Amino acid sequence: MDKIISTAKFLKGEISIPGDKSISHRAVMIGAISDGVTEITGFLKAADPLSTISCFNSLGIEHKFENEKLFIYGKDLKGLRRSATTLDAGNSGTTIRLMSGILAGLNFSTIISGDQYLIKRPMKRIIDPLVKMGADISSTEKFTAPLSIKPVETLNAIDYELPIASAQVKSAVLFAGLYANGTTRVIEHEPSRDHTERMLNLTPEKSSGKSIISITGGMKLEAKQFVVPSDPSSAAFFIVAALIVPNSEIKIINVGMNPTRIGFIKVLKQFGANIILENERTIGGEPLADIIVKSSVLKSNCILNGNLIPNIIDEIPILSIAAANAIGKFEVRDAQDLRNKETDRIAAICFNLRKMGLDVEEYKDGFAFESKKDLLSSGFESFDDHRIAMAFGIGSLALNGQSTIINSECVSISFPSFWKIVNTLQK
Ligand code: S3P
Repeated sequence: MDKIISTAKFLKGEISIPGDKSISHRAVMIGAISDGVTEITGFLKAADPLSTISCFNSLGIEHKFENEKLFIYGKDLKGLRRSATTLDAGNSGTTIRLMSGILAGLNFSTIISGDQYLIKRPMKRIIDPLVKMGADISSTEKFTAPLSIKPVETLNAIDYELPIASAQVKSAVLFAGLYANGTTRVIEHEPSRDHTERMLNLTPEKSSGKSIISITGGMKLEAKQFVVPSDPSSAAFFIVAALIVPNSEIKIINVGMNPTRIGFIKVLKQFGANIILENERTIGGEPLADIIVKSSVLKSNCILNGNLIPNIIDEIPILSIAAANAIGKFEVRDAQDLRNKETDRIAAICFNLRKMGLDVEEYKDGFAFESKKDLLSSGFESFDDHRIAMAFGIGSLALNGQSTIINSECVSISFPSFWKIVNTLQK
């Protein structure tokens, strides 16, 4: 389905955004391997986290949705049972990578795969550490899914220095660590999102610029309650929308403010964005706030690179839209992993920005462009990637004339109500 978008005159109103995708996945996973019934409030009912639920259903875990809550009937670390079918992670990298850490420690074989996009994404990053722990995992020759994970006598604890900044790799190793003999230590040089650590109550040791996260095998997990804040990565689309559409003022309530996730707010404030955080508080171990955003004159002169990249990795598409509507030169470097997302996001961003009439330079690890007045409306490709569809959907609101987002339904991966909220704010 293609979505036609016209110029917005203003955006106004108070909105709430669906639950955090990363936390929703983890709440189901941790619930499934805990003892007892886990209660999750604010779970994101979108295709990716629903893939995680359906994978655990195939492994014998039951769930129910009741009164806006999700209940997961956990079976402890070793109570999962063999699936009669291949687990289908759909489009979800988080599902396949994190679950592989759990599957590696179980006493039965599993095959896990996904859709046409997921089976192209790199899995060597999780296979390597899990094999070091003694796991038996095979993949295609290109180290992609389907992954076949067989039982082993024991998994051994390792010290693992992350070769790339990836919360998915870190979490896969930590989950496998629950099944290993001894204490597994993950050493992280560049901070990536820390939801797994928070949700498992692991306290990282900080030492000379690195963070060491330890987990002891066999640690018993008791079922608990999780409260999922609104996803800051989803809120980012509407924050930028209100900044770039003239005469706008919106309030977004209950947004997750985990410091490993809100680098994009700092970047936008550097651009001169009028963003105010109110009612800052902590619920269930995660900080939250309400956010007020007003239209702003943005200046984008900057290079985003280095340690900042893992913190803003999912927001680079929408930051590019903010930069296209700003004054100045915008450059992103050290972001080569963007090429391994749901689509090659560097190529996708460059392709669509060029359709807006910008001269974009593309690098292996990023891109750069100078903003221009009078950007062009156009037909933008989503490449079936939810964040590309949403970023260019928001960009279209500030263009003169009608634009189209091709295959816009892919927003259902993380934000099924996205287009509805776009409409609500214009009324
Ligand atoms: C995620 C980690 C990030 C992010 C993805 C969700 C997670 O991936 O891009 O959307 O929930 O752990 P990487 O770990 O590959 O950077």
